[in-house]
Parts: sequence; structure tokens; C-alpha cells
Amino acid sequence: MKQRMIIAAMMALASLLAAPASASEAETVFKFYCAQCHGLTGKGDGPNVTKDFPVSPRNFTNAGEMNKLTDADLKNVIMDGGPSVSKSPMMPPWGKTLTAGEVDGLIKHLRTLCQCKGKQG
Ligand code: HEC
Repeated sequence: MKQRMIIAAMMALASLLAAPASASEAETVFKFYCAQCHGLTGKGDGPNVTKDFPVSPRNFTNAGEMNKLTDADLKNVIMDGGPSVSKSPMMPPWGKTLTAGEVDGLIKHLRTLCQCKGKQG
């Protein structure tokens, strides 16, 4: 009897973990994986960035720049890294680290930071 309850509790937990990333989860993922370069508030001024960095990480609060990119562009560069879109290898690929749901959550988070919808298409 007791064992059944434990199994039920584990299944409930598993379904929670599989749920699509919510906005606050996306923020946690961003802080963990992206903020060291892109900065906690997305301004491209994370603690990892030294003057030796050949390029600055994108400032996500710059709506003008962020509006040049579609959500699909963001997804490509997040999944496959800078070189996949002829940008710097200083931007690592995340496709093997993050789930599709986490990447979608991050894209939404970036759109909150720039307060822009991005290029449509
Ligand atoms: C080791 C530092 C570093 C980390 C960690 C990092 N980035 Fe980047 N990122 C960069 C740099 C540097 C660029 C600029 C590349 C360029 O312009 O050539 C960049 C560019 C980007 C761009 C492209 C913007 C454009 O103009 O095309 C996106 C989107 C992006 N990063 C998202 C993320 C996300 C999301 C994460 C976390 C999962 C992340 N980055 C983690 C360094 C980093």
C-alpha cells in the first residue's frame, strides 16, 4: 500500500519534470548557462567577458539588433553555436546540453529582454 503511494508520487514528479519550461524556469536556465557571458539582465556584460574577448556577446536588450533575427535564427545559433551562422565560436552550441523545451523557453526569455517580437518570417 505504502509502496503504491510512493510510485504515484514519483509519477507525479516525473510529469512535473517533463512539463514545458515555464517563464521562471527559462530564467533559471538563462542564469545558469548564458548569464556568465550575456549578463544577468542580458546586456552582454557577464563576468566571463574579458577585454580579450574578440567579440562582445549579443546585448539582448538591444531591440534594434534583436529585431533583425527571427525566432528560428535564435534557435539555430543557440542549438548549433556561433560558427553555424558565421558568427564567433565564442558562442557555444547548446543543442546537446539543453532540451528543445528549454531552448524554446530561452527564446521567449530573450524576447522579454528585448521587448521585441523579432523579424517575422
Ligand atoms: C562563453 C560565452 C557565451 C555563453 C556561455 C553564451 N553565449 Fe551567446 N554569444 C556569445 C558571443 C561572444 C556571441 C556573439 C557572437 C558574434 O557576434 O559573433 C553570442 C551570440 C549569441 C546569439 C546571437 C545573436 C546574433 O546576433 O546572432 C544568441 C541568440 C545567443 N548568443 C544566445 C545565447 C544563449 C541562449 C545562451 C545560453 C544557453 C548563450 N548565448 C550562452 C557568447 C556566449
